[in-house]
Amino acid sequence: MPDDIPIPTDTPYRWGEWQTGSIMQYKLHVNGRDHTVDVDDDTPLLWVLRDEIELKGTKFGCGAGLCGACTVHIDGAPVRSCTTPISNIGSAAVTTIEGIGDTPIGARLQKAWLDVDVVQCGYCQGGQIMSAAALLTRNHAPSDDDIDSAMNGNICRCGTYARIRQAIKQAARTDLGSAATKKRT
Ligand code: FES
Ligand code: FES
Repeated sequence: MPDDIPIPTDTPYRWGEWQTGSIMQYKLHVNGRDHTVDVDDDTPLLWVLRDEIELKGTKFGCGAGLCGACTVHIDGAPVRSCTTPISNIGSAAVTTIEGIGDTPIGARLQKAWLDVDVVQCGYCQGGQIMSAAALLTRNHAPSDDDIDSAMNGNICRCGTYARIRQAIKQAARTDLGSAATKKRT
């Protein structure tokens, strides 16, 4: 690696540095299914999802909580799985990009993502949708500022930010439309 690329020094986990604890058995509830894994107690959730449970949609980007590519939900809250040790999960429900489409908000977002043709290389987009789903869960009609604030930690090297914002707005409008329909019937 060139000398002039800064390396974060204040992060709890870096590639290859988590295998210092002791092997434990953990039961995880992921996307509505139970899994049992035997891993070091400080293994980041990201690697348990990818390597133990074979859910590869959650991506490794920075490994330091800085890019958002690894975003999943724990009991509905967005978290960076690269800096979340497996020992912190307990009995919480984990949702990944593979499972978010089973929720009404996730399904609306995925449709909007396709309608708007958001994706370029796609690497960041799982994390983007997970953050967007968390936003629309707590705010059904986000303003531009709300969207920018919620999505601020999700980096897209392809620069798809404008289309991401457009897709979130479409999904939010769909939500308002279905609420109005419910009211009329
Ligand atoms: S890989 Fe987790 S925030 Fe970048
Ligand atoms: S679509 Fe390529 S990094 Fe976001």
